[in-house]
Amino acid sequence: MAETGTDISIARELLKKGDLVAVPTETVYGLAGNALQASSVARIFEVKNRPSFDPLIVHISDFQQLSRYVMHVPVQAERLAKEFWPGPLTLLLKKRSIIPDLVTSGLDTVGIRCPNHPITQNLLKTIDFPLAAPSANPFGFISPTTAGHVNEQLGSKIKYILDGGACAIGIESTIVGFENNKTIVHRLGGISVETLEKIVGDVEMASTSSLSPKTPGQLKSHYAPTKKMFTADLETAVGMIDLDRVALLSFSMDYKATHQVILSPSGNVTEAAKNLFGALRQLDKMPVELILAELVPDEGIGRAINDRLRRASAK
Ligand code: TXA
Ligand code: MG
Repeated sequence: MAETGTDISIARELLKKGDLVAVPTETVYGLAGNALQASSVARIFEVKNRPSFDPLIVHISDFQQLSRYVMHVPVQAERLAKEFWPGPLTLLLKKRSIIPDLVTSGLDTVGIRCPNHPITQNLLKTIDFPLAAPSANPFGFISPTTAGHVNEQLGSKIKYILDGGACAIGIESTIVGFENNKTIVHRLGGISVETLEKIVGDVEMASTSSLSPKTPGQLKSHYAPTKKMFTADLETAVGMIDLDRVALLSFSMDYKATHQVILSPSGNVTEAAKNLFGALRQLDKMPVELILAELVPDEGIGRAINDRLRRASAK
């Protein structure tokens, strides 16, 4: 098990040596290393068992730092950063050569964001390098939203977890890129499409093909529990299935099932997002053969939840 605590100086010393530290953010916990040091970045891929074609997000402390790492900031990117940073928004921008190619899997763009969590903000202010940090879970599995989640899955492979409590948003950042003056959403996340559009007007969705080189990490199977999971209309399903052998993930309804988790009894999608990954972990531990999950209302952050539920489901 890794040591868990709130001591930024321990984290800083480990990072300065090239070691990895798990850090809290408002979205999910990240597995952080020095983004400018290829050996630390390589260790991130190794610990996560992540294929090298799936690039990492670089975390900086504020907007002022951005120009050190990217060649150019389009006007839409600047508007979005000024509105939403620190916060759950990642910008894909043309990288400078100071960012190792390993970070971006050889792409000429780098994903950058400024996380909104006081501990990690303080940490970033005391080091003179940015942090490359993917979600702190083994590749393909459920993302962690508490220090305990990280310890369960990666505790034997890292030395220290900065404990910042439960993540406030609970779902990863929204990733946007810029092409020919258009703003393109590459991953739905903590900031909804509707909210982005208030700042930059209409946005487009990137093609969902998992083979597209521009979105290498948007693989179809992701965020998955170890048990088989399917999305279903639970109201219909409950009458037809053996409730002893199936666990239900409900949005707000109480289906009175033996094995169930309700994401938000009051029907609030923001609360549902915060509870999503913890709920999937809970369901995965229930004595059942499979998990049935219902989709949530497809609006606001609900779209990002549904994206995760679909990718977590068996094909
Ligand atoms: O909220 C978050 O973004 C969290 C916290 C820790 O900051 N991080 C996170 O990282 O979700 P990760 O590695 O689990 O997901 C990053 C996604 C991957 O799907 C990756 O393919 C995509 O970002 N990505 C990173 N750089 C990219 C780039 N240059 N072009 C296209 N996609 C990129
Ligand atoms: Mg991830």
